[in-house]
Amino acid sequence: MQTLAGKKILLGISGGIAAYKCADLTRRLMERGAKVQVVMTEAAKEFITPLTMQAVSGRPVSDSLLDPAAEASMGHIELAKWADLVLLAPATADLIARIAAGMGNDLLTTLVLATDSPIALSPAMNQQMYKNIATQENVDTLARRGMLIWGPASGEQACGDIGPGRMLEPMQLVEQCEAYFQPKPLSGKSVLITAGPTREAIDPVRYISNHSSGKMGFALAEAAAQLGASVTLISGPVNLQSPHSVQRVEVSSAQEMHTQVMNVADKHDVFIGCAAVADYRPVSIAENKIKKTDDNDDISIAMTKNPDIIASVAALTANRPFTVGFAAETQDVAKYAKNKLAKKNLDMICANDVSIEGQGFNSNDNAITLYWKNGEKCLPLSSKKVLAHSIMLNVHERLSVSNS
Ligand code: C5P
Repeated sequence: MQTLAGKKILLGISGGIAAYKCADLTRRLMERGAKVQVVMTEAAKEFITPLTMQAVSGRPVSDSLLDPAAEASMGHIELAKWADLVLLAPATADLIARIAAGMGNDLLTTLVLATDSPIALSPAMNQQMYKNIATQENVDTLARRGMLIWGPASGEQACGDIGPGRMLEPMQLVEQCEAYFQPKPLSGKSVLITAGPTREAIDPVRYISNHSSGKMGFALAEAAAQLGASVTLISGPVNLQSPHSVQRVEVSSAQEMHTQVMNVADKHDVFIGCAAVADYRPVSIAENKIKKTDDNDDISIAMTKNPDIIASVAALTANRPFTVGFAAETQDVAKYAKNKLAKKNLDMICANDVSIEGQGFNSNDNAITLYWKNGEKCLPLSSKKVLAHSIMLNVHERLSVSNS
């Protein structure tokens, strides 16, 4: 699907080292049919030349607010109206601060003030500058005003530091643009998702848990939001950033997750139980740390069953959401998944074989078969993000059928 065909993207480049990636970004956007108009700050020109950007975009770069010749061809107000999307990449701490303050002291900030097109920005700066409370508050302010914040990624930085502040890679920005322009079939729908593991406390310092990374649930939340849904994500402890415009509730134990889900489940159109909920928890949590003793090599912990969250949601009699479960199996995947679909009274189940290396738990890839009453569909091995998107489109399709 060529969602970028004919789309007019105003690419605002500010002065960060990641600016050198903008030539590639422009190429990739244009390959997909987008028209790219580049606007550069003075500092950006220290990192990549306007000539390079003109050559790859096929258009003269705009860089001056007070240039009579430029104003005579496409003036800054006209430019602000031209864009279907304003993409600020890299967005430095300085650019973000100037936009947050409402300044218009160069062409790029003036365009941001003058446009009523959506604005996306991809922060890029040293990790300490990104973590600085001033930058954090500025980014929060822009997100609150409805700007889309794409990134930053975490990792090794040009200065040698490691941490958050890397601009998303050009292809990731292209994917964000594509997702932004795709049709929004879930707009007006609310989706509640559980993700990650739960932790079942044994004593004040120990717990029983599992290897769930939360990646699948977070990818589902991101896909649902990109498809227009309002999304609540109830997550166990994971090391992942919240997807943009998703409301996140953090929990630890299965009982906490159950309480939070049941508080809001009947206010949602769709519930997806993607969390790897612990089936059992210790009957009691020791008040103090359990000590190792010399007289006994074995200890036992009495366990009791946790509430089945998804079954509780599926059993709602009023305002029951369309309920989707996951089945991670190591054998007889189809048989167990279909059993679970019926036993838990689900509308759809996403089954995956976790015995195959390179997919499922903790991996970035997965393959899934969807089952519903009288139907099934195979979604082949792909990234969890791509898979999440297909799952959400299938949920939308089944939801439409069940509502008709
Ligand atoms: O029974 P099993 O754990 O294999 O079922 C998996 C599905 O049930 C997943 O959707 C999971 O999120 C959900 N589940 C739950 N509460 C539990 C156990 C599993 O919601 N206590």
